Amino acid sequence: MGQGESRAKKAVLAYSGGVDTSVCIPYLKQEWGVEEVITFAADLGQGDELEPIRLKALDSGASQSIVGDLIEPFITEFAFPAIRANALYEGRYPLSTALARPLIARRLVEIAREVGADAVAHGCTGKGNDQVRFDVAIGSLAPELKVLAPAREWGMSREQTIAYGERCGIPAPVSKASPYSIDLNLLGRSIEAGALEDPDVEPPEEVYALTRSLQDAPEAPELVTIGFEAGHPVSLNGERLDPVTLIRRANELAGRHGFGRLDMVENRVVGIKSREIYETPGLLLLIRAHQELESLTLAADVQRTKRQLEMQWADLVYQGLWFGPLKQALDGFIDRTQETVNGRVKVKLHKGNATVVGRSSASDSLYVPDMATYGAEDRFDHRAAEGFIYVWGLPTRLWSARRRGR
Ligand code: ARG
Repeated sequence: MGQGESRAKKAVLAYSGGVDTSVCIPYLKQEWGVEEVITFAADLGQGDELEPIRLKALDSGASQSIVGDLIEPFITEFAFPAIRANALYEGRYPLSTALARPLIARRLVEIAREVGADAVAHGCTGKGNDQVRFDVAIGSLAPELKVLAPAREWGMSREQTIAYGERCGIPAPVSKASPYSIDLNLLGRSIEAGALEDPDVEPPEEVYALTRSLQDAPEAPELVTIGFEAGHPVSLNGERLDPVTLIRRANELAGRHGFGRLDMVENRVVGIKSREIYETPGLLLLIRAHQELESLTLAADVQRTKRQLEMQWADLVYQGLWFGPLKQALDGFIDRTQETVNGRVKVKLHKGNATVVGRSSASDSLYVPDMATYGAEDRFDHRAAEGFIYVWGLPTRLWSARRRGR
């Protein structure tokens, strides 16, 4: 390997503190001739203590170890747009991992420029979606930077990676390593590998950490009222909350009632199907409530068109195209639609369910009671329907008559 050729002089590495990204440090230096590795560990609300991670990078050979709090931009610039877009990949996965990647990439690029690095590095394998998201984002934000992905090339098994690390003074994981591969941030958890690789095997209860089992969820239902302004969630039960606190509370509430688990087979960008378990209680709750408020406040044709574009928005975020032109164009459309998405949605949480039981919008409801009512106040002109139906059904009647040969 390596043999003298240097792939870069100074690289900024996306660092998690795990074995793989730790091994990336000596590997980049020894095998790929990188002179200096600077690590960056992002706080995305995953709840890890960052100081030990910062020190571990230095112990593993980083010349500088940077940690940064990205929680606030993660929620306001990435999660909230996803809520406004009702973004669900393949109709289900709310992109909790995917949304973090362009933000991390953006910060890596900023740091690379600050420290005068000529490369950015990550520990993704060649099989996942995250490599696509990092590489595409970095390539579009900073075409001058090289992207180094050692784990895509090193061909080491888990055991070999640990052994390589030990030879470089990186201790093997102390506890019996979890059989699962987990990604975690404030929006949720994704759990893969181990027994879960068989899509026919029910996930054991131990894979979950943010949501209670149906058994342990409270017997009594709980009602939560979610307030929205211009499509942004702004309050829970009438209490105005900053975006980060709101997501935290929504996670606690929904998670306590066992809502937000997902077990699915999804289509990865690289062409394979994978079995994924997710826990994204707050995000799923907020998307559900947001969709509901739109049904009250968006005109029918806007709502239908938006539902179609939402799929494209979710696809492009999943596929790593956050910084692309379609994203910008769709955001223009979505922003415009959200002007009227103001109001409140009442959701009942109970035993794994989040059931919408009410919605209202003082300023923007398009629900007109005396048009909808069957009572005495009815203002709808029933007789006008007849002429409408005559014209509406005309092509179908003409076609049918022709078919009957008349
Ligand atoms: N399948 C999900 C996605 O593509 C989760 C990926 C988890 N990533 C990880 N490095 N464990 O967004």
